[in-house]
Amino acid sequence: MNPNRKTHGVLSMMLIWWWLTAVVVADPQINLLNSGCSQYNVSNESTFYASLNATFSDLTAQLNNTNTRFATAQQVTGSAYAMVQCRNYLSTADCLACFTAAIAQIRNCSAANGARVIYDGCFLRYESSSFYDQTTQPGNKGVCENQTASQTPAFSTVVKELLADLQVATPRINGFFGASKKEVVGDDGNTTVYAVAQCAETVSENGCQDCLTVASTNAELCLPGRVGRAIDAGCFLRYSDTPFFADNQTTDISPFLGNGSSSKKKTIIGGVVGGVVGAILIIAFFVWFTILRRRKPVIRGDILGATELRGPVNYKYKDLKSATKNFSEENKLGEGGFGDVYKGTLKNGKIVAVKKLAIGQSSRAKADFESEVKLISNVHHRNMIRLLGCCTKGPELLLVYEYMANSSLDKFLFGERRGSLNWKQRYDIIFGTARGLAYLHEEFHVCIIHRDIKTGNILLDDDFQAKIADFGLARLLPEDQSHLSTRFAGTLGYTAPEYAIHGQLSVKVDIYSFGVVVLEIICGRKSNEVTNDPDGEYLLERAWKLYENDKHEELVDETLDPNEYTAEEVKRIIEIALLCVQSSPGVRPSMSEVVVLLKSKGPLERQPPSKPAYVDSEKKVRGDRSTSTASSTSNATASISQPTGR
Ligand SMILES: *[C@@H]1O[C@H](CO)[C@@H](O)[C@H](O)[C@H]1NC(C)=O
Ligand SMILES: *[C@@H]1O[C@H](CO)[C@@H](O)[C@H](O)[C@H]1NC(C)=O
Ligand SMILES: *[C@@H]1O[C@H](CO)[C@@H](O)[C@H](O)[C@H]1NC(C)=O
Ligand SMILES: *[C@@H]1O[C@H](CO)[C@@H](O)[C@H](O)[C@H]1NC(C)=O
Ligand SMILES: *[C@@H]1O[C@H](CO)[C@@H](O)[C@H](O)[C@H]1NC(C)=O
Ligand SMILES: *[C@@H]1O[C@H](CO)[C@@H](O)[C@H](O)[C@H]1NC(C)=O
Ligand SMILES: *[C@@H]1O[C@H](CO)[C@@H](O)[C@H](O)[C@H]1NC(C)=O
Ligand SMILES: *[C@@H]1O[C@H](CO)[C@@H](O)[C@H](O)[C@H]1NC(C)=O
Ligand SMILES: *[C@@H]1O[C@H](CO)[C@@H](O)[C@H](O)[C@H]1NC(C)=O
Repeated sequence: MNPNRKTHGVLSMMLIWWWLTAVVVADPQINLLNSGCSQYNVSNESTFYASLNATFSDLTAQLNNTNTRFATAQQVTGSAYAMVQCRNYLSTADCLACFTAAIAQIRNCSAANGARVIYDGCFLRYESSSFYDQTTQPGNKGVCENQTASQTPAFSTVVKELLADLQVATPRINGFFGASKKEVVGDDGNTTVYAVAQCAETVSENGCQDCLTVASTNAELCLPGRVGRAIDAGCFLRYSDTPFFADNQTTDISPFLGNGSSSKKKTIIGGVVGGVVGAILIIAFFVWFTILRRRKPVIRGDILGATELRGPVNYKYKDLKSATKNFSEENKLGEGGFGDVYKGTLKNGKIVAVKKLAIGQSSRAKADFESEVKLISNVHHRNMIRLLGCCTKGPELLLVYEYMANSSLDKFLFGERRGSLNWKQRYDIIFGTARGLAYLHEEFHVCIIHRDIKTGNILLDDDFQAKIADFGLARLLPEDQSHLSTRFAGTLGYTAPEYAIHGQLSVKVDIYSFGVVVLEIICGRKSNEVTNDPDGEYLLERAWKLYENDKHEELVDETLDPNEYTAEEVKRIIEIALLCVQSSPGVRPSMSEVVVLLKSKGPLERQPPSKPAYVDSEKKVRGDRSTSTASSTSNATASISQPTGR
């Protein structure tokens, strides 16, 4: 025996071993599985690129940490929400390498307002609105590899068991990541199946479960292929017969399988009726292949949660006409500033609200309409009504919205259902409205000023969550109509003085109206009606007076149960409302500040509110209300501050 040879053999074996390990360990796994760009571009590219760069550096910094494989980031301005996730088995260096590749790839989307890249090793996504809680979305699918290189039926059985176990265990594991392997015992040698499952860390346990349930089904479609994966907005699944993670990265999933571990039972049953199962499996594969082949052309669109990829739906006029029974009176839900709204039942049974717009039909109006619809159909926020689509062909311009069974807030405050909202519901509505407006002003990629915030434009869903309606429409009006018109932009009683008088438009106009709405919600009183007592005060005036005299508790709606709220809460909310209705737009807080203030506990750490614009004790104009507007006072602020009887 030549000792040299032996050494050589050992050395080469070591080399091979090292190489194998190295391949597994130092590989960022930049194998592109899926990518996509939104079809909509941002409106201001320079701010967008700057904010995207800042977001990416933020994410890089977070990932440059041994224990971090998941990060989200968003900029206060510029609106890019981003999420990155590496498979936990990647080293920090590999994770950063994968992320760097993802950044290079995603920049291919230029200024698209949303994009995603999914690699084996990591994924990166950004959108103009938050998507962190998305789990399973249209576009979810399996990504298979070389299905001609198929494995045995026993392999398929084991893959299914392994995926089933991961599906149960992963949502229960802290960090939502599971990596496991399983032996397939075969006549001519054993093989091992390796699999990982992972969810975005921002989803809930149930969300992770839902997503992985869909993902398992999708990945199993790759069987009997050697390699299969499933991609979705909130989770990822991969199996393979070759190792793609290091042995020491395996997770012990057994403690998370709980009582009804299906795999053990399955193995026993599998052993007993293995032959039968095998035969059934083979038949099943044939059936499945046939179904898959046939289904291919109608496979779901490539959406994967990037909802921006979906444009607004163009509805047919005749469909909407029949859905609303020819816009019949009985289907009419209400009359808004921009036109009447009808309840419609589409052919598929879905109930929608159809708005018939009362604006011009010129070709310019139509073009504006289409671009505006495109914009506002991208407004996705839980406190904003979803615009589903529109109809431009036909005698009218129509907008189709999601339907809210509970109708609008004014009905609950002043109308037929007065007194049915408790304190917590009212607080949630205030908070939801504030969040929706903060999104519209500061987070959506275009700053949208609503201009007509009022209780009639705040709809309530089944859970009494606020949904703001009618946003974006004021932009359709010709400039000369966009202020000083009670019919369109702004409703008296809610309109900020600087806008009503000078047409000075800014987000602070909405903030003023929001303050008025908050007072109405707390007091259960309309802002444009005077009290019955001899003083005859308007809501704002009364609120200020009571606040100044520290008697704000008298403001609270008498239908509310006094045990539901504390004096401190009442004071804080009234103070926030009064901050919003201050006369100088500059000192009103921004909507995101309002959200923070609402969340805070205890007394506000802020300059107390100053007097609202019109409260002018020297110059009471209500003596002769019918003619007060222009003539009875030289103080324009005072005169415009209150609506005259309508
Ligand atoms: C978006 O911007 C890219 C490049 O800046 C351009 O090629 C593309 O046409 C734009 N898309 C739309 C819908 O404006
Ligand atoms: C984009 O935003 C920046 C900063 O707000 C501003 O200076 C610039 O004029 C804007 N560009 C366009 C095209 O609106
Ligand atoms: C963003 O980063 C890219 C690549 O590093 C660079 O080319 C680009 O100029 C940056 N853009 C801005 C606005 O900072
Ligand atoms: C990660 O952190 C280390 C030290 O903390 C630093 O040297 C390195 O440049 C960082 N890498 C990246 C990509 O930021
Ligand atoms: C997209 O990005 C990759 C990676 O940077 C690059 O190689 C590729 O050419 C780009 N593709 C397109 C269509 O721009
Ligand atoms: C697929 O697998 C077959 C059989 O193992 C092999 O001959 C073929 O080269 C593979 N194709 C690819 C693209 O890997
Ligand atoms: C395959 O696995 C079984 C059970 O784990 C074991 O008994 C057997 O020796 C293995 N066969 C080979 C060829 O490794
Ligand atoms: C896992 O094993 C590799 C070598 O195979 C080693 O470099 C690494 O440090 C190990 N990781 C842990 C967490 O033990
Ligand atoms: C677990 O199994 C035991 C006995 O099999 C049973 O008594 C117990 O209720 C089970 N627990 C759950 C949570 O299913």
